[in-house]
Amino acid sequence: MPYQSADRVATFGTSIFAEMSRLAVEHKAINLGQGFPDFDGPEGVKEAAIAAIRAGENQYAVSMGQPALRRAAAAHSQRFYGQTFDPDTEVTVCSGATECLFAAVQGLVNPGDEVILFEPFYDSYVPIVLMAGGVPRCVPLHAPTAEQPRWRFDPDELAAAFNERTRMLILNTPHNPTGKVFAADELAQIAALCVQWDVLALCDEVYEHLVYAGARHQRLSAQPGMAERTITVSSNGKTFGFTGWKVGWALARPELTLAVRQAHQFITFSTSTPFQTAAAAALALEDSYFTGLAADFQARRDYLAAALQAMGLRVSVPQGTYFIMAEITPLGFDDDVTFCRWLTSEVGVAAIPPTAFYTEAHQHLGRTWARFAFCKRRETLEQAVARLAKLNGR
Ligand SMILES: Cc1ncc(COP(=O)(O)O)c(C=O)c1O
Repeated sequence: MPYQSADRVATFGTSIFAEMSRLAVEHKAINLGQGFPDFDGPEGVKEAAIAAIRAGENQYAVSMGQPALRRAAAAHSQRFYGQTFDPDTEVTVCSGATECLFAAVQGLVNPGDEVILFEPFYDSYVPIVLMAGGVPRCVPLHAPTAEQPRWRFDPDELAAAFNERTRMLILNTPHNPTGKVFAADELAQIAALCVQWDVLALCDEVYEHLVYAGARHQRLSAQPGMAERTITVSSNGKTFGFTGWKVGWALARPELTLAVRQAHQFITFSTSTPFQTAAAAALALEDSYFTGLAADFQARRDYLAAALQAMGLRVSVPQGTYFIMAEITPLGFDDDVTFCRWLTSEVGVAAIPPTAFYTEAHQHLGRTWARFAFCKRRETLEQAVARLAKLNGR
């Protein structure tokens, strides 16, 4: 039939985010499902976008990215990680991290190549691998236990996922939805396997500045043998609170950058010109902005975590990101979708069921959890907490 979807997208369902948001609107619920702030980022950065529009920066940008933003992304990398990238040959600007990831996979994965992913994952990873004709190989992160307080991968399960068909590993740290920040020894294990099997790494670090006391974000690309095989991706969305602007950048050695650019030029060609200028201004903000951001979000995390604990949920306090995973079994639930529908319609607080972030084989691992976003104004969190408090001692 002429109006059937092409095979490469036919299996993609509508996302659970859409369903939960619809339910939240229907029940006037406080939406702690969606991962974006209900407040804007810095005024000065907004002004930079407005000034750029007024100054006539309204035509197509350079395909690889405006020079000012490529220079700013390179300077940011030098400032925070001591890593040098050449703005001309090693930095590419895309429409958000999502397009950087898509372009990197399109540019580097051949049909039949295997791509290793950690589950649960950001929901675009499997589709972007499938659209390139790649084969996802999923390695689960195991939930915290009394002996192992952090989400963790089993090194043997990870090693078993590598073989001669493996082309790429996608790593998201700090990790959505678990809030895990991969530790140095874990990065060393991942790097050793990538080097051993001659595998590329695609690192999604959009939460790089949302890391809390006791944890430190480290780049996989800093591990021995990884600089030449890693594409590191980040964006303005989470760090600067402008998720709607969709400005991202990919850092990689020239050969890998070429592949990203070859794909990017025929996906979007270029990214919004004035918002690139504003993103460059954002990346140049003083260190105090970045430390203040982490401290501010840590306070929101602690406030919501305490409320979730008080209502009886078992909370996995995140080391990074703006999500809290909470175990729902103490409230008598064993199915995340049922719990999230109930919480939205009966309690008036929306959360996301994490089975959306697993392939079918591993969905049981997420079924007893719910994901709450705390990137919300204090008043929004207070309203949510007031509603959740009605369940205390239930
Ligand atoms: C892990 C992860 N990567 C990428 C993105 C999207 O980034 P962008 O808005 O820059 O495309 C998100 C947004 O939720 C995310 O959680």
